Amino acid sequence: MPNIVLHKCGEAFRGEVAAETNLVVRAGIRRFPYPHLTYGCGMGKCGRCACRVLAGAEHLPEPNWKETKRLGDRIGQGFRLVCQLWITHDIELHQDDALNAAAPRPREG
Ligand code: FES
Repeated sequence: MPNIVLHKCGEAFRGEVAAETNLVVRAGIRRFPYPHLTYGCGMGKCGRCACRVLAGAEHLPEPNWKETKRLGDRIGQGFRLVCQLWITHDIELHQDDALNAAAPRPREG
């Protein structure tokens, strides 16, 4: 079972999830500690779930086209869209709401 550490607002929220868990789905059903995860569309469009992966990136698949489109250069800095990830191994994430709020909004359509 993967162990999750989410760093946010100066705190570290820790928990364990079943393999193949999507953390945005967990946040949506308010399962500890993921209500602390900021997210929006759940579909790779809004960018509000973006997190920098601090550890465990080697176990993730390559970014999909939605992540590439939404994150651009931030992928090279270790960012991923958490709504696009199904977690299979331990992972440590950092989410900065100010940074995500500053991200350009996706165009509609
Ligand atoms: S929740 Fe909107 S891109 Fe992940």
